[in-house]
Amino acid sequence: MFFLKIRSIGCAILLSICGQSAWAFHKDVYEPRVPNEILAQEQQVKSPHPVTPERIEAGRRVYFGVGFCVTCHSKDGTGVNLPGHPPRDFTDAKWQKLRTDGELMWVLKNGSPGTGMPIRVGTDITEEDGWNVIQFIRTFGGK
Ligand code: HEC
Repeated sequence: MFFLKIRSIGCAILLSICGQSAWAFHKDVYEPRVPNEILAQEQQVKSPHPVTPERIEAGRRVYFGVGFCVTCHSKDGTGVNLPGHPPRDFTDAKWQKLRTDGELMWVLKNGSPGTGMPIRVGTDITEEDGWNVIQFIRTFGGK
């Protein structure tokens, strides 16, 4: 029983290492992060809140504060140099256009499996904070 446990822990570690490198080397920046089976449905999810300067400002405070986004995504949104899978470049206009707000909310609720992107909504921030920080992330785009 004990040995079986050790073996399965070993397998889990091996799998996570191999899994990470598989994601890191094979997943293109523009490929959706939401699993295929639910992609169409998640793309349709819309924010219940209108875009306002107040909400963008609230999102900015989440990004630089309680959400810890700035530690990986940097002040200017281009992302810090992380080992393994680099954070997204939020100033990339093509990426901004490809992703819907619904997809970004999915990533905030589920993280991006196989990468350093952690679950944020429901752990450190609320769903409303999540929608606000998405409004703020959109302000990096279009450069
Ligand atoms: C520990 C580092 C880290 C923190 C903290 C972090 N992120 Fe990320 N984030 C990443 C990495 C790495 C990726 C790239 C993941 C990928 O390529 O799938 C990423 C990707 C993303 C994406 C792009 C997903 C996509 O569909 O392309 C969004 C949006 C995002 N993060 C938002 C946030 C927000 C908002 C916060 C704060 C509430 C945050 N992140 C905090 C590391 C982090």
